Amino acid sequence: NDVALGPYRHYMQKEIFEQPRAIADTLEGVAGITPSIFGADAESVFRKVNRILILGCGTSFYAGLTAKYWLEAIAGIPCDVEIASEYRYRVSVPHEDQLVVCISQSGETSDTLSALEHAKSLGMHMTLAICNVATSALVHNTKLHYITRAGAEIGVASTKAFTTQLAALYLMTLVFAKMRGRLTPEDEVTRLASLRHVPAAIQSVLALEPQIMGFADIFASKQNALFLGRGIHYPVALEGALKLKEISYIHAEAYPAGELKHGPLALVDSSMPVVTVAPNDRLLEKLKANMAEVSARGGELYVFADAGSSIDPSDRMHVIRLPENYGDLSPLLYVVALQLLAYHTAIVRGTDVDKPRNLAKSVTVE
Ligand code: G6P
Repeated sequence: NDVALGPYRHYMQKEIFEQPRAIADTLEGVAGITPSIFGADAESVFRKVNRILILGCGTSFYAGLTAKYWLEAIAGIPCDVEIASEYRYRVSVPHEDQLVVCISQSGETSDTLSALEHAKSLGMHMTLAICNVATSALVHNTKLHYITRAGAEIGVASTKAFTTQLAALYLMTLVFAKMRGRLTPEDEVTRLASLRHVPAAIQSVLALEPQIMGFADIFASKQNALFLGRGIHYPVALEGALKLKEISYIHAEAYPAGELKHGPLALVDSSMPVVTVAPNDRLLEKLKANMAEVSARGGELYVFADAGSSIDPSDRMHVIRLPENYGDLSPLLYVVALQLLAYHTAIVRGTDVDKPRNLAKSVTVE
């Protein structure tokens, strides 16, 4: 084990730091935006697709939630995202022209496999898996596939599987955008180049580890934490809260910041740390208004921003700045910072980071 861990203390830390490599490997062999990235039959299948349904559990579900923002904004294709365990038991309206996309690191999650069978039983036979294990049941049971190349993920809390899923989902978005006439040749070049630059951009987020450890020292003594984001950074906030609760056992909740007034603001006092994901995007001013509501209640803010985010640090407003603004791809960077926050908070608390209590890496029973 020690050999496999190299310089790292835990698999989770190793896997967080492997993300530049994992994403580069996942993108290897992608020369341009073409449906065949998803299999030889993908073009004929994708031509019949007018809407997308994404199914998954846990972190994989949050990858799907992130992708919904891309698919609708960039490709203009309607997208629903459902928790597999809910979808399989609810009476829903099937659509024959819907592509069912199942996301799973392991490809063995019982609820995801059953949700896929449920979709098929409703007559939806255009199916695609985004999965890290080529030999899994999920890949076996779907028509089209994208195999992420994260490599074996051992830490129970998913990290590199998530960011490689996002890379695959972004490619899928670009394929649909191109097929629907929404991607000019120049856009294709620019967007693919930004995607290829993600590994280097993540490297510079990893370099923020010492600063993030400073936040973690404070978080370790907290009982609760609130994570806020808006737009595509709301799923990032959800994933950040999930990571923190899973491995540090601190109660963490995520909210779309605009919902603050509809409930969570009641929880805010001087002992509640509030994490915000605050890149300089078109929602930043809205988010800052929400942050002011937190400050007015004595809440302490821990802000992940970028160089262009006009946010002034103060006594109760701590800011870590990511080096680049990454536009549509920024979830892949901010989530890495939140993974590190959860990891180091758990380290300070002395929990079993790679094997958190009560949780399993792959939930193969219902
Ligand atoms: C478990 C793991 C999570 C994972 C989820 C879905 O809860 O602890 O890290 O996100 O299962 O797993 P999957 O293999 O389907 O992505």
